[in-house]
Amino acid sequence: MCGIVGYAGPASTGRSSVLEGGAGPDSGGEALAAVLEGLRRLEYRGYDSAGVALVTGGEDGSERSLSTTKRAGRLARLVEALDAEPLPASSTAIGHTRWATHGGPTDANAHPHTSADGRLAVIHNGIIENYATLKADLQAEGVEFASQTDTEVTAHLLGRAAAAALAEVGADGGPADAGEALAEAMRRVCRELEGAFTLLAVHVDAPGVVVGARRNSPLVVGLGEGANYLGSDVAAFIGRTRSALELGQDQVVRITADDVVVTTFDGAPVTPRAFSVDWDAAAAEKGGYDWYMDKEIHEQPKAVADTLLGRTDASGALVLDELRMDTAVLRRTDKIIVIACGTSAYAGHVAKYAVEHWCRIPVEVELASEFRYRDPVLTERTLVVAISQSGESMDVVMAVRHAREQGAKVLAICNTQGSTIPREADAALYTHAGPEVAVASTKAFLAQITACYLLGLFLAQLRGNMFADEVRTVLRQLHAMPEAVQTVLDRTEEVRELARELVDAKSVLFLGRHVGFPVALEGALKLKELAYLHAEGFAAGELKHGPIALVEEGQPVFVIVPSPDSRDSLHAKVVSNAQEVRARGARTIVIAEDGDDAVLGSADLVIRVPRVPTLMAPLVTVVPLQVFAMEVASAKGLDVDQPRNLAKSVTVE
Ligand code: G6P
Repeated sequence: MCGIVGYAGPASTGRSSVLEGGAGPDSGGEALAAVLEGLRRLEYRGYDSAGVALVTGGEDGSERSLSTTKRAGRLARLVEALDAEPLPASSTAIGHTRWATHGGPTDANAHPHTSADGRLAVIHNGIIENYATLKADLQAEGVEFASQTDTEVTAHLLGRAAAAALAEVGADGGPADAGEALAEAMRRVCRELEGAFTLLAVHVDAPGVVVGARRNSPLVVGLGEGANYLGSDVAAFIGRTRSALELGQDQVVRITADDVVVTTFDGAPVTPRAFSVDWDAAAAEKGGYDWYMDKEIHEQPKAVADTLLGRTDASGALVLDELRMDTAVLRRTDKIIVIACGTSAYAGHVAKYAVEHWCRIPVEVELASEFRYRDPVLTERTLVVAISQSGESMDVVMAVRHAREQGAKVLAICNTQGSTIPREADAALYTHAGPEVAVASTKAFLAQITACYLLGLFLAQLRGNMFADEVRTVLRQLHAMPEAVQTVLDRTEEVRELARELVDAKSVLFLGRHVGFPVALEGALKLKELAYLHAEGFAAGELKHGPIALVEEGQPVFVIVPSPDSRDSLHAKVVSNAQEVRARGARTIVIAEDGDDAVLGSADLVIRVPRVPTLMAPLVTVVPLQVFAMEVASAKGLDVDQPRNLAKSVTVE
């Protein structure tokens, strides 16, 4: 939720803004260009309003001031405003794209918020839980509020604290300079705040400095040449640098063009961990597609291939050195609990079938938001696997903390370097899907299933549940999947046509069984997220226990049919389920393997996928469902990449 960007560097580098047709270098100079570029890359985090603040002036003795522009609506509206009224060049800027929590998406509630003296601007992600008390105290002292946000209290508190700290600069025991004074003000205020927050602030009297703080909300530092950056995640600055620093919990950072200083909230110095970002900027561009989502769907073969890359040794055995988890822990594990949200939870649900089958360890899949409230049974032999694309979903962060407090070991499967979940987990296995920008997750899902499978095979190899050649066989099957996914992508015209035809459908049902069940749930989720359509996924076997009552004439029902090679007549049972709904008037859209003619009698339309081993099937069967949802949304004229009310990274509970 909310995207945050900060820049400290030269006012002009001669490079132009990457924003097509938007505020170029004439407005705001390099600082604004860098911040808008970052906001464009972070807009998926929230998109109901956006704003920037720049410290401007000061050259040739001109008076310095704070220039703030903010607008309700998409980032494009802010860019229009900046084009209409260009800002002077600056070397210091912060920018924000909002997902509203306190106060609706209006110009006044958009960030940045400014202090009463107009000299400090602040942007915020998260929720200040004690804001009401703080606000009441400030109001009692006569402070007037211009917005309904929780954030504004921090602007007033920081404004006061900064004024006090700036007055102490150079005094005995006082801050050494204005930048340090602003950092000290931030530390003082953060100690008073409760809740989750990332805050960035700039001050007129601390030109060239951006100060940031984080508690339970993400913030990373980008180290450029002659410029430094702050961002909610590395996407904010990958167009400019791949060199980054991780910040820990309850830390304050101060950046200037050539320096980064990190401390705790109490002022103790901290040496942050450096890392190199392996995403490239081009991967975060649309690359000729109308939607990021379409591009990301087409990147799925690569996401699977990259996640498999470098994880086998010369003999073909699986090596997961990067896990850095004591193998004794993995050997003694007697239960796995997967915690995740949304699409990531469905990836975990798919993985359960494979991991239980391969490792004979019971696997529970739990929504992260429910996990700690049910008082789960956790022991030191429980391995908690936290799956998250962003590495920031607050529900998952809190579940990870709970699990660790209870003595369980936590392994993160994550796509974003420098994010909170892998940093707080005992071990991490990265998916290599590259930046996922569209709010609805696609390529991360396939990469997560792949990574979970690698983990399952690794456990089976380590614990001796599978012979080496069995592990190699499954690895070979996995390595064949990028090509199989590509085959599905080459055949999407039929499903696109179907989507255009069903654009006025009121409801769509999805049925699946075994690994097809979570695929059905994911297909329904995609349709809800993107097309705002009522959609439900069911375990096909449950049909007769209730859901079949929903079926009426013309009701579209997707049926994910398992391979005819599946065990226990699963194939025949699902085909019967398709028959049952069709007999009651449903229009059945059957997803079936090439050559599976047994489905013909129960299908109004058959969408073909290549023949793959049963456990690999989700990697191909979900693809037509993703394309279907995207195409329905597109045909309805909706914004596929930024669906209403959603945010990609949900950093509040
Ligand atoms: C949000 C996104 C979903 C995503 C879920 C979990 O709800 O809109 O697409 O699946 O969060 O996100 P994570 O980053 O933890 O995988």
